[in-house]
Amino acid sequence: MESTVDIAKLSAELEHLATFTDAPPPAVTRVMLSDTDLAAREYLMRLMEEAGLTVRIDAAGNLFARWSGTDPHLPAVATGSHTDAIPHSGRYDGTVGVLGGLEAIRSLKRSGHLPRRAIELVMFTAEEPTRYGVGCLGSRLMSGAITGRKAEKLVDGDGVSFGDFHKRAGGAGTLEEVRLPRKHFRAFVELHIEQGPRLEASETPIGIVTAIAAPASLRVTYVGAGGHAGAVLMADRRDALLPAAELAVAVDSTARNLGTTDTVATTGVLDVHPRAVNSIPSRTYLEIDVRDVNESRRNNVLDVIRHQAQAIGDRHRQETTVETINADAPATCDPQIVKVIEAAADEAQLTSSRMISRAYHDSLFMAQVCPTGMIFIPCREGLSHCPEEYASPLDIARGVQVLAATLARLSSE
Ligand code: GLV
Ligand code: MN
Ligand code: MN
Repeated sequence: MESTVDIAKLSAELEHLATFTDAPPPAVTRVMLSDTDLAAREYLMRLMEEAGLTVRIDAAGNLFARWSGTDPHLPAVATGSHTDAIPHSGRYDGTVGVLGGLEAIRSLKRSGHLPRRAIELVMFTAEEPTRYGVGCLGSRLMSGAITGRKAEKLVDGDGVSFGDFHKRAGGAGTLEEVRLPRKHFRAFVELHIEQGPRLEASETPIGIVTAIAAPASLRVTYVGAGGHAGAVLMADRRDALLPAAELAVAVDSTARNLGTTDTVATTGVLDVHPRAVNSIPSRTYLEIDVRDVNESRRNNVLDVIRHQAQAIGDRHRQETTVETINADAPATCDPQIVKVIEAAADEAQLTSSRMISRAYHDSLFMAQVCPTGMIFIPCREGLSHCPEEYASPLDIARGVQVLAATLARLSSE
């Protein structure tokens, strides 16, 4: 199929979306349902409506923009991703799949394609775990991997529950009703930057994901004893930063010492209370991220880290709490969708390569709802989750072209 992707328009939209940020550009911070995120959502909904799509918002704030098909009885084909952004990140993570998905639909419309099945663009709420600690909240609810009742009880750092906060999105119904029945969609295909270096290094424009690694995260709190940094003698201290620091090192070495390339572990959050130079830390809070393509090995690593967290805390005479936030299974992409994407890349004369996604995506949960696939495009030096994140207009246009051809084929079935 001839490409009709309007990359100038799409690039301008990506640039404009990046202006909705709580961090100084080029960094992007757009935490789910913040005022900035709400303003970005308004902009997105305007673009969706301008493209002639009908927009629905569910209770979790997931947006669905629908292009009706000629047969209203058939399940739709869906595409999409997220537009929330972790603190001080870049402008392409997730957004390429939402605005690129929109441009894929517009280009199909321009080319005269008449879908038999509806095509829906989905913008998922809170793929990023920033506010509630748990990733893929919108798609997790859609899949039923978290119940509405459990999601309502999630509480953010300001003590605000998701049961109250989700209402900011202005969606209809209850969180229980966000869950989609199995096979609600015929298929889900997500376009995303690779967030790793392989495609760029091998000069391969298209990656086709076959599986998504299993993510997990832990929350650890140490409570020791505070006091005056000058007056309390070393022998009398129960400094809460020390077990936290020791645990961060242990997390890193546990993953490293396994000697596999596929096990990764990160302490991404370490909050110190009261955070004053002349005060002994009385409390620390850590969030630890552990992933592997092999779920049982990932579970073993989680067990080891949980045990280390407690043992280190005991040694430092701390009150220790260890909690598992999530421990998700890996996902397998649907072999037939993989082949459709491969054929679309071939048709566009673009080299493609099958690969594993080490990052998680809403596709991890959509794979529980319907046959799912992912298209990856290169990003510079594999950088992501940082302001240096970059994908070239040419690579984005190629990804959108392959997505459009994939949607064309699946919506004609
Ligand atoms: C998604 O943002 C991830 O952390 O993999
Ligand atoms: Mn991300
Ligand atoms: Mn993402």
